[in-house]
Amino acid sequence: MTIYLDHAATTPLRREALEAMLPYLTEQFGNASSLHGPGRRARAGLDEAHEKVASALGATPREIVFTSGGTEANNLAIKGAAWAGKTRGHRIVISQVEHHSVGHTVRYLEKFGFEVVEVPVDRFGRVDPDELDRALNTKTILVSVMMANNEVGTVQPMADIAERVRRYKGVLLHTDAVQAAPYLPIDLDELDVDLLSIAAHKFEGPKGAGALFVRHGTNLLVQQQGGAQERYRRAGTEDVAGAAGMGRALELAVAERDETTARIGELRTALMSAVGVDAAVQMTGHPTERLPGIASFVVPGLDGTALTIALDLAGVAASTGSACVSGSNEISHVLTAMGYADDEARGALRFSLGRTTIAEEVTQAADLIVKTIAHQREAATKLAGAMPVLKADAAAAERTGVSAG
Ligand SMILES: Cc1ncc(COP(=O)(O)O)c(C=O)c1O
Repeated sequence: MTIYLDHAATTPLRREALEAMLPYLTEQFGNASSLHGPGRRARAGLDEAHEKVASALGATPREIVFTSGGTEANNLAIKGAAWAGKTRGHRIVISQVEHHSVGHTVRYLEKFGFEVVEVPVDRFGRVDPDELDRALNTKTILVSVMMANNEVGTVQPMADIAERVRRYKGVLLHTDAVQAAPYLPIDLDELDVDLLSIAAHKFEGPKGAGALFVRHGTNLLVQQQGGAQERYRRAGTEDVAGAAGMGRALELAVAERDETTARIGELRTALMSAVGVDAAVQMTGHPTERLPGIASFVVPGLDGTALTIALDLAGVAASTGSACVSGSNEISHVLTAMGYADDEARGALRFSLGRTTIAEEVTQAADLIVKTIAHQREAATKLAGAMPVLKADAAAAERTGVSAG
């Protein structure tokens, strides 16, 4: 059995969420826009999901727009705010460590004349609110800073950031709370943001379901034309089952938050110290201001992808950092922004615990991780030792015209 330590990539669907979804996948299959009984029952399910998500976040049901996940919520927030604000200005400010669904979206907007400023982060991946301040000007229309990072778990000082942004009239503030939602208390009555994204599959809800909180009165240009769904803010027949599953999963995650956070925080600390005893393994991210479940490292000189494959063979599911760049040779923009050299960043490893992770799994995984790193290092050392011989052989083969086959 694989020990699953990749909850930041996705989580299993919890039973209660599945049960909330089943009626809308079977008997209650109606289209929520239809006027007849089946349609009205689907509408009731959708309304209930709006209420659940809103109440979990301290918002009102009308402020919640269901989307197909975190990526779409981020796209809608950023493109919607940018185009709505175009007559006032063209500057968009983000942090250097945003998820690609934010970073690539603003890069796309640059093609249409928007100016993008990326605020640097420190060695721990934190934005300095003073740096953010320097990036703001009267032409700024939107600021987007994630609540917590998916690769290293660092939590951003959102209240301070909001305070700086509010000094400029009319600038919209968006936060990507996709990783934060299950673990950090979010009260939109208190948190001064205009737009906030979440994704159900990060808190044991279904994949392909997400939401964007749009504060009442926020000017957002619709990005998807068609029907009147979601109060004209997101056209397309609603996925009632997905919304119901998300509502139930979020409701439970919030109710269990304190217990989950404390428990997996302890397990994460244990995992970090077990793996971190190796002097050549460096922990990444903020020592205290971090999500409870993310244990992230760099192993300089080793390859994170090779380590992840070796760990999978050993029975531990981990990641190099972001699931989106795993499998590509891309070096993490997050670690680069944090000041890690390419050789260090190439050795990125992320273990992310979830509500269902248990102590025995962490103990077993720690042992397997330490052994796997030691094996990989031994293999790398042997290879480095053999390199001069291999190179000499290759040179001799070239001279004599004999191929090594
Ligand atoms: C911080 C962050 N934002 C956005 C996303 C995208 O969410 P989704 O996979 O639901 O599109 C992810 C997913 O990994 C994420 O970690």
